[in-house]
Amino acid sequence: MADKTPPTPLNPPSRGPVDRLGRPLHDLRISVMDRCNFRCPYCMPADQYHEHFRFLHSNERLSFAEIIRLTRLFVRLGVRKIRITGGEPLLRPQIEELVGELSLIEDIEDIALTTNGVLLAQHAAGLKAAGLHRVTVSLDSIDDDVFQRMTGGRGGIERVLDGIRAATDAGLDPVKVNVVVQRGVNDDGVLDLVEHFRGTGVIVRFIEYMDVGTMNHWRPEDTVPSRELLERISRRFALNPVDRSYRGEVANRYEFEDGAGEIGFVSSVTEPFCRDCTRARLSSDGKLFNCLFANQGLDLRAVLRGGVDDEQLLEIIYKAWRARADRYSELRASSRSSPEELKRIEMYYIGG
Ligand code: GTP
Ligand code: 5AD
Ligand code: SF4
Ligand code: SF4
Repeated sequence: MADKTPPTPLNPPSRGPVDRLGRPLHDLRISVMDRCNFRCPYCMPADQYHEHFRFLHSNERLSFAEIIRLTRLFVRLGVRKIRITGGEPLLRPQIEELVGELSLIEDIEDIALTTNGVLLAQHAAGLKAAGLHRVTVSLDSIDDDVFQRMTGGRGGIERVLDGIRAATDAGLDPVKVNVVVQRGVNDDGVLDLVEHFRGTGVIVRFIEYMDVGTMNHWRPEDTVPSRELLERISRRFALNPVDRSYRGEVANRYEFEDGAGEIGFVSSVTEPFCRDCTRARLSSDGKLFNCLFANQGLDLRAVLRGGVDDEQLLEIIYKAWRARADRYSELRASSRSSPEELKRIEMYYIGG
């Protein structure tokens, strides 16, 4: 069992557990809202997520007090990096309050938030003031038609771009833009995105389209390998690889030779990074998932609301991490197809 004494400067938190593949617990990704104001066809197609779809009731979502209590325990087990996700996390009322409380937890080194950006302009300054370090905005195209198609007609590209500017102005640093690239859908807009954000300080990262969830009917040929994009972009701009800034960093990074910033590639299909995966995921209704592709989560909300004390909870989380052996993307890579089409958690529910 991990060290049970509360951490103090003289008694630093224990190093925490490692899982069955020797991976420590370092990142916690907290989904705070299962709803989203977009309907990206690969994540929440509008015909399935219609106005009568039953999303969680607010009392089914973890309260801020519950999230904070769990986060403190995760921090005792080694977590240093928090990412707030959704659905769309800016739809969660008073999200700044949660950020403020998270920022008071000692030993957390990094608090980031992933958003689709539509509500970011109105939240950026408040989030920064509350203690958020940085944001990542999901933006698959800067061509308005393609953007409309890829967000189910709900988005407004100008509002997202305003959000990105507001985040930069507020000092949320660095602002990253995540672009999920789908062959034949938005891959011809990749250079436009690079050009648009080059020299602005915003870091664009191209994400290989994956077989997450059950909605997107993924086929291997829909993924554009990062290698191919790198070649395309390099023909236009001279790029040099940058060393990883920490073990387990997901993106492969490249700098523009002329000093106009950097871009990244997240290649979970063609170069899986399960070996260094230190991420635990908490869904908005309090289930703990050890992998983005897991089909079952551990119901921490039930345990919490059942009235256990912190030490018992700590033990439960500790054991769940110790038992972890997930490495889905590596298995997919070796079989060259989706290993299992059974029930899987959806991306909007777990937040990427
Ligand atoms: P930084 O800390 O800013 O580097 O971000 P990150 O590494 O936490 O990545 P981010 O949350 O921006 O994730 C970008 C995308 O990478 C996600 O939307 C997923 O598509 C993919 N991704 C992130 N983490 C994982 C993971 O653990 N497994 C897999 N298969 N894909 C992941
Ligand atoms: N493959 C890769 N990334 C995805 N995301 C959603 N679905 C997929 C997929 N099939 C990304 C979103 C966002 C993050 C929350 O997850 O674009 O950046
Ligand atoms: Fe699109 Fe992200 Fe919303 Fe899913 S959660 S519909 S990917 S904006
Ligand atoms: Fe981690 Fe699962 Fe992604 Fe592999 S597939 S990197 S184990 S979340």
